[in-house]
Amino acid sequence: MSLSRLQISRVRNLRQVQLQGLGQVNVFYGPNGSGKTSILEAVHLLGMARSFRGSSARSLITHGTADCVVFGQVSSPAYPSPVPMGIQRDTTGDAQIKVGGTQLRSVAELVEHLPVQVINADSFDLLTGAPGARRRYLDWGVFHVEHRFLEQWQRFQRCIKQRNKLLRHGKMRATELDVWTRDLAVSGAALGEYRKAYFEQLAPRFVQIISRLAPALEGLELRYQQGWDRSLDYASALENAVEVDIEQGYTHTGPQRADIKVMIKGRLAAETLSRGQQKLVVCALKLAQGQLMSDQGKARCVYLVDDLPSELDEAHGARVCELLASMQAQVFITCIEQADIERLWPDSGGAQMAMFHVEQGSVEAVIPGSVIPREGTPGEAAEPHVLANGRQLAAVAVPPAKYTNSSSIEK
Ligand SMILES: Nc1ncnc2c1ncn2[C@@H]1O[C@H](COP(=O)(O)OP(=O)(O)OP(=O)(O)O)[C@@H](O)[C@H]1O
Ligand SMILES: [Mg+2]
Repeated sequence: MSLSRLQISRVRNLRQVQLQGLGQVNVFYGPNGSGKTSILEAVHLLGMARSFRGSSARSLITHGTADCVVFGQVSSPAYPSPVPMGIQRDTTGDAQIKVGGTQLRSVAELVEHLPVQVINADSFDLLTGAPGARRRYLDWGVFHVEHRFLEQWQRFQRCIKQRNKLLRHGKMRATELDVWTRDLAVSGAALGEYRKAYFEQLAPRFVQIISRLAPALEGLELRYQQGWDRSLDYASALENAVEVDIEQGYTHTGPQRADIKVMIKGRLAAETLSRGQQKLVVCALKLAQGQLMSDQGKARCVYLVDDLPSELDEAHGARVCELLASMQAQVFITCIEQADIERLWPDSGGAQMAMFHVEQGSVEAVIPGSVIPREGTPGEAAEPHVLANGRQLAAVAVPPAKYTNSSSIEK
């Protein structure tokens, strides 16, 4: 999967930005507050219908306007021609999503069209945060490789909600509880199986990738905890726990308690590793998922990497870039200085890298390795819209358009 074209309207300080001829590696550099992360957010919005900053749609929309729109063109070896995708979100929280001209009814339908992976400062949560973040990580991966997963996941969520509602009320007929317990046992067991099968393929890839990213870090491994006693099937575990569930008023055993433990030589990595080492582990976790997807012939995911150089020394930063480059995934990457990534990326300045300067919500394409074009300074970077490979690249920063309600995602 890769985006060849992107049009961003009213996302944070990006009033109108059009990016055409995007490359495999797209670097956005510029000063603090210029709009770099907002570009990544716009891509995430297109793929997942929400920001990765966990903030509401309202905070994503440019202040004083009523909606934001992101439109993109997605290419894939599986598609005969690029597919247009668009999303519009308004301040009430409503979303309109279109792919290939068809309106989608759910976000689940959207996410398979543009799988996106984020590596940013919040990604540390994956290692150091609560198990929920690791379950979401795991489920993201299972969803993309196992098409039956979503149905079981939704069924499980429905069942556990109903069962907990009954348990909370305290007064229930045993037969009523039995019905939900039986259904929960079936969907929970299926969920556990899908996760386990996925994990078994993920774990060796993680080990292989982290050994390339951080060869000095020996003894790292992933352990999967399914959320109930390993020696029991889920139905038996639920049966054994029913008294405690009734007493405590909720279902306390099952896939809703699953976790992935990252261990180093038998200790929790989160409690042992330095900040930079943690970042490398997080990168390895995210890269392993992308690797697994492409090994299985699924879509290649698009990586959104915010401020890669922070926390990493040059050698480790370069290894992350090398791996990203070898996966041939499309990458959107931000940094403060143009040279930050040029230094790290293998064969930097090559045909695959598109470089963009971001300033006060405007984006301009520059030739990798060239001097930043300054307004009214003839001679410097004479053709900022032509890449080193001679390809025309138009990154047009349109002056803030007056907001009208007529904007739509009809493309
Ligand atoms: N809803 C909004 N409407 C308008 N501007 C906003 C909105 N939300 C945030 N901003 C502003 O948008 C600008 C761009 O933010 P962004 O996080 O993309 O910057 P950045 O280039 O990633 O900066 P840094 O290098 O500090 O990470 C900031 O100045 C921010 O204050
Ligand atoms: Mg930022």
